[in-house]
Amino acid sequence: MQGRKVIITGVPGVGKTTVINEALQTLRDEGVEYQSINFGSFMFEVAKNDDVVQNRDQMRSLDRAVQKQLQQRAAQAIAKVPGNVLIDTHASVKTPKGYLAGLPEWVLREIMPDIIVLVETDDDQILMRRLTDETRARDKEGSRSIAEHQQFNRSIAAAYAMMTGCTIKIVINADFLLDRSSSELADVLR
Ligand code: AP5
Repeated sequence: MQGRKVIITGVPGVGKTTVINEALQTLRDEGVEYQSINFGSFMFEVAKNDDVVQNRDQMRSLDRAVQKQLQQRAAQAIAKVPGNVLIDTHASVKTPKGYLAGLPEWVLREIMPDIIVLVETDDDQILMRRLTDETRARDKEGSRSIAEHQQFNRSIAAAYAMMTGCTIKIVINADFLLDRSSSELADVLR
């Protein structure tokens, strides 16, 4: 039987990786297996080999044509992974020249997801999480700009649903309510 392909997205710092790890642990305890794949890591491996970036946060500023090529190569590699797959990525990426679609036609055609999950929370909470995360070179932006990005992601997700027939699920990952968001994600994946 063909596995399920679920894509999970959310603006940087919303906590999608944290929610994924919790949900997958719950499912593992029940014997449900998913392979978790970070789209950005696949892109970064290709970009590093091509010697175009030194860290993953620099990828957002690459030329659009280069980002397109990295997306395409990452999607082709991910499409070959068998079984149930959970792909951690972005509905859109904020670049210096505007929003870049994270799941354009050349990515969706390869992956053809069953479900796209949008992880969201209050703009102020995202701002605080970014400010306290010292492990990353997060872009500096205010809560109004974060709100705009979250709104844009909902709009572009509707276009992805039209292109693939997938469903769109919104999961809210509020402060101190990680149990709730991870159990909602686990329900989607069962
Ligand atoms: P990626 O690696 O996905 O970077 P990211 O969005 O910054 O993702 P992170 O995993 O770092 O953040 P997160 O939102 O998962 O938050 P976390 O769990 O760490 O992508 C890297 C790059 O790849 C992108 O910038 C882009 O250039 C490129 N890329 C990727 N996909 C692409 C695509 N499709 N097309 C083009 N380019 C693409 O949590 C953050 C903090 O919040 C932590 O401190 C955590 O403890 C805290 N936290 C989480 N949940 C809670 C909670 N409920 N309460 C309180 N604190 C919480």
